[in-house]
Formats: sequence, C-alpha cells, structure tokens
Amino acid sequence: MRSIFVPLLLAGLAFGYVIVTPNSESGWTTEGPNAITWTKLATDPPEFSIILQSSIVGGIDELAIASGVDGNTGIFVVPPQEEGFPAGDGFHIDFVNATNNSDIFAQSAPFSIIQSN
Ligand SMILES: *[C@@H]1O[C@H](CO)[C@@H](O)[C@H](O)[C@H]1NC(C)=O
Ligand SMILES: *[C@@H]1O[C@H](CO)[C@@H](O)[C@H](O)[C@H]1NC(C)=O
Repeated sequence: MRSIFVPLLLAGLAFGYVIVTPNSESGWTTEGPNAITWTKLATDPPEFSIILQSSIVGGIDELAIASGVDGNTGIFVVPPQEEGFPAGDGFHIDFVNATNNSDIFAQSAPFSIIQSN
C-alpha cells in the first residue's frame, strides 16, 4: 500500500522553476558565452530577473544578469563579457521577482566559473 503514496509525495515536491544548468558539473567560463537552462511549470510566474550570486571574499556578491526574462524559452544565453566574470567556486544563479529581488523563485546548484583560454 505504501507505494501508492510515493507518486503523490513526488508530485508535491514539483513546485516550480528548476534551474538545470549551470550546475556542479557544468559551470561557466570567465568570458562566456554562458547559458542558463531551466524547466517551468504552467503555474510559475511568466517572467523573472536573473541574478548571479557569489560568496567570494572581495569579489562580487550579487550581479544582475538580466531582467524581464521570458520563462517559456527555457534558455538564456549570457553574451560574452568584455571584462569577464571572476573565476571561482560557489556561485549560484537565482531567478527572482523583478520588482523584489528578495522574492526568489529558484536557485541553481552551486557552480564554478573557470578562466577562459
Ligand atoms: C513580485 O513582487 C511584487 C512586490 O512584492 C508582488 O506584488 C508580486 O505579486 C510578485 N510577483 C510574483 C509573480 O510573485
Ligand atoms: C519581498 O519578498 C520577500 C520574500 O518573499 C518578502 O518577505 C518581502 O515582504 C517582499 N517585499 C515587498 C516590498 O513586497
């Protein structure tokens, strides 16, 4: 009987945007281009802003990547950066409410940014 309840439990956990990449195995490079991919449910907000977060001491804490991103596209490519992103570990991508950055819709797994060649 117990198995009947397992799908219900899993369904209850599927509550919104899931950031697929970047992740711990597939990170970014300092120069890019760097892609962000995600999955969306019909009930998710249609748009969001993207923020890059890091806990590097002396580095960026939070960097706005894009706003007004259409959630239905499933991918956003950050164009190559002239100055580049800092290299390091422990970065996150957050999808946030455009009018309230504390209102987080989704957070990626931690990922690394490696120096471009
Ligand atoms: C975004 O934040 C504003 C202000 O807090 C709120 O009114 C609005 O409902 C939020 N939007 C979503 C999609 O959660
Ligand atoms: C922004 O979002 C946070 C987290 O959801 C919430 O606690 C706060 O009240 C919101 N601020 C406004 C101005 O809506």
